[in-house]
Amino acid sequence: MSITALEKAIEIAGGQSALGRLIDRDQKAIWAWINTTQKVPAEDVLKIEEAVDKQVTRHELRPDIYPKIAPLEKMRVRKSGELKGTIKISGAKNAALKHMCASLLTDAPLILKNMPVGLQDVKTLSQALTHLGVKVDLDKDNNVATFHAAEITSHIAPYDLVRKMRASVLVLGPLLARHGKAEVSLPGGCALGARPIDLHIKGLEAMGAIIELEGGYVKATAPEGGLQGAEITFPLVSVGATENIMMAATLANGVTTLLNAAQEPEIVDQGNALIAMGAKISGLGTSQIKIEGVKKLHGATHSVIADRIETGTYMCAVGLCGGELRLQNTRTDFLKALITPLTEAGMDIIQEEDDVIVRRNGATLKGVDIMTEAYPGFATDLQAQFMTMLTLCDGAGMISETIFENRFMHVPELCRMGADITIRGNSGIIRGVKTLKGAEVMATDLRASVAMVLAGLVAEGETIINRIYHLDRGYENIVEKLTAVGADIERIRD
Ligand code: UD1
Repeated sequence: MSITALEKAIEIAGGQSALGRLIDRDQKAIWAWINTTQKVPAEDVLKIEEAVDKQVTRHELRPDIYPKIAPLEKMRVRKSGELKGTIKISGAKNAALKHMCASLLTDAPLILKNMPVGLQDVKTLSQALTHLGVKVDLDKDNNVATFHAAEITSHIAPYDLVRKMRASVLVLGPLLARHGKAEVSLPGGCALGARPIDLHIKGLEAMGAIIELEGGYVKATAPEGGLQGAEITFPLVSVGATENIMMAATLANGVTTLLNAAQEPEIVDQGNALIAMGAKISGLGTSQIKIEGVKKLHGATHSVIADRIETGTYMCAVGLCGGELRLQNTRTDFLKALITPLTEAGMDIIQEEDDVIVRRNGATLKGVDIMTEAYPGFATDLQAQFMTMLTLCDGAGMISETIFENRFMHVPELCRMGADITIRGNSGIIRGVKTLKGAEVMATDLRASVAMVLAGLVAEGETIINRIYHLDRGYENIVEKLTAVGADIERIRD
């Protein structure tokens, strides 16, 4: 049984301990199967399969009693022609999740507008925060969410919640700063290689925290009198570490300076939300951020920045399919590293007040080269989509991935659909082909999943995408948004 199948079984059962109860096994056994990639004994595999089947039928028979289980959904995408119409861009997932964690820093409510409430990651983190004592209100109709941490009732973010999403490690800094202690399971999330959190830990240690790793958990305690301001130089640029330490520093004693800090627009957005809560921060959007600790933060209302990765994804979709889209409620200024090569390849991208018009001029795009880098460089989260767009280009393009070591997992799937891609180390050459062909494919992480959707839109025939739960983590209403602009796409049950 693969780790993913086991994780799915845990999700269906409603948690690791729930699965343990269903198959008469100690929770520790399940933990060991996942964390040490120990083989699941054959008899347990059978028990797990039976238990999962039973859970599924139970819910179908008595939805009033048994909880809704995660549906085993797939996506069917058919060749769709040009995309035409309007798509409203959601608030940025990667900013929203950090704001949610920041709500732990104050006993007053944090109200977030333009919130991508429909995302699975928002729901998962809401569960983790609820577990810590935060009162969560998600208003899907108005895209508003309120997080109120009047009292922190637990300082433990358990494995069952954290494993689904790496960003939950961002409760570490706020919990330590406000509550003095935190226990957070080492994170899961997208399968993008090792992805350590050593920089988060070293930064908090520099502020006086005592940190131990035990049983798969990071156990952290603030020094007597609270965290101390410090000068922290990151050896490499990390979005998450910058955010975690910035949050912790808002309530520390004295000044914290972050050198070689990440400059992503989502960090600027997070900093602005913290300032609205009473934090003293300067240097946002540069590599040197200064945070002057304050005694207390208060509540605030903040509107989440537009999702630049969702915006860029739909830009690549137009590049691949042709046509013209109006992307509402978004910007071009935070996507310069994408827009330059898109324009070079043959697209027109124009900002019109709060909308962005994207159109492909000419029949086929020219091949261009890109390299992923920390912001303001080309976003690694757009690499898979850009590569998919290049599969049908005129000539060839080269992509180098410098952020994550394991981020070409979409390549074998694209090749199964007829793409011509050669990987050498952390670079790939994409030679344009005339056409892709539909196939049954598997999505392995969030951005690879959406790359499969884009490929399906131009592939001859039908493409079936498995494991679309990755997609639901990060793309709000993707089926509805794409259908509205002419795509032939639907969810189907197993
Ligand atoms: C965030 C984004 C993710 C994006 C990534 C890079 C969220 C929820 N996720 O992830 O979508 O792809 O930025 O833009 O915002 N590293 C270490 N030690 C650490 C931390 C990071 O070695 O303690 C390494 C990572 O393995 C990686 C690089 O630093 O190679 C960048 O990672 P980082 O910027 O931290 O990414 P995340 O914050 O996890």
